[in-house]
Amino acid sequence: MAYPQERLRRLRGHETFRGMLQETRPSLADLIFPLFVTEGSGRIEPIPSLPGICRFTPDRLPREIEEIAALGLRAVILFGLPAGKDETGSAAWRPDGVVQQAIRVIKQEAPELAVITDVCLCEYTSHGHCGILRDREVDNDGTLELLCRTALSHAEAGADMVAPSDMMDGRVQAIRRALDGAGLARIPIMSYAAKFASAFYGPFREAAQSAPRFGDRRSYQMDPPNRREALREIALDIEEGADIVMVKPALAYLDILREARDRFLHPLAAYNVSGEYAMVKAAAAKGWIDGERVAEEILLAIRRAGADLILTYFAKEMAGRWRA
Ligand code: PBG
Repeated sequence: MAYPQERLRRLRGHETFRGMLQETRPSLADLIFPLFVTEGSGRIEPIPSLPGICRFTPDRLPREIEEIAALGLRAVILFGLPAGKDETGSAAWRPDGVVQQAIRVIKQEAPELAVITDVCLCEYTSHGHCGILRDREVDNDGTLELLCRTALSHAEAGADMVAPSDMMDGRVQAIRRALDGAGLARIPIMSYAAKFASAFYGPFREAAQSAPRFGDRRSYQMDPPNRREALREIALDIEEGADIVMVKPALAYLDILREARDRFLHPLAAYNVSGEYAMVKAAAAKGWIDGERVAEEILLAIRRAGADLILTYFAKEMAGRWRA
């Protein structure tokens, strides 16, 4: 059947029908809000390149957590800024490290809020790379043990899920074994499985003070042109025991999300990263776009491409628009 019998506009004429026929239904329950925690006390520091996002010292978290929970958000992911950095990033696995402190504060304030932790060393190393160095190269196998210590210390402090983002080979398997060996088999791993060496991370590196001091991350993060390699990364992480696999960034990689959704059965997450947020905020501040509507459209696209979960700085803003 074709025009004039067939008219697709028929079902678009009524607001209720439009609502009933919405194929993708985003919800606040799909969103994970990134939180930056910084060592010390008494400070809430706005991040200029991420308007509306701040760094909190652990003692200043309770009010923020109360607000997040009251808005109907269900999960946060923590990034830590330690007071001091060293060659190995040892502040990452201290039992009284900033992330470990923050986990305890959040669990006391809102026990039902899921706490996920980013497991990586770049915020903690003096050189800013995601692993330890050997002859100015990031040493893959030597780094695994340190990532395991970090993941374990997060889980022991009360984290509900750990999310390794370093892109070392074999880290999912190593962390899974470490957790299981410590009686923490119940803690899931969300792996940053296909993480690209992206220019979209710019504002995050300012927020987390984690830019590499020399070189770049291209020897461990993925090369943006590569689609099949991304699928291999995801397949390997699943084999190693990842419970959730992530594609990052989201917007410039929607094709990878769709293909991963079609190919794998595991839950799929996407990171709507700092640069994607900053671009919308900057254009909206100039009055060039309606920031909230653009944000919603972007998040919808990421869900439509196949992501089940989205890590996004827009999470709090969506609370007014989406149901919990
Ligand atoms: C840590 C990490 C990064 C991001 C999340 N975890 C930065 C990086 O790899 O340089 C980026 C998140 C964002 O841009 O919002 N390795």
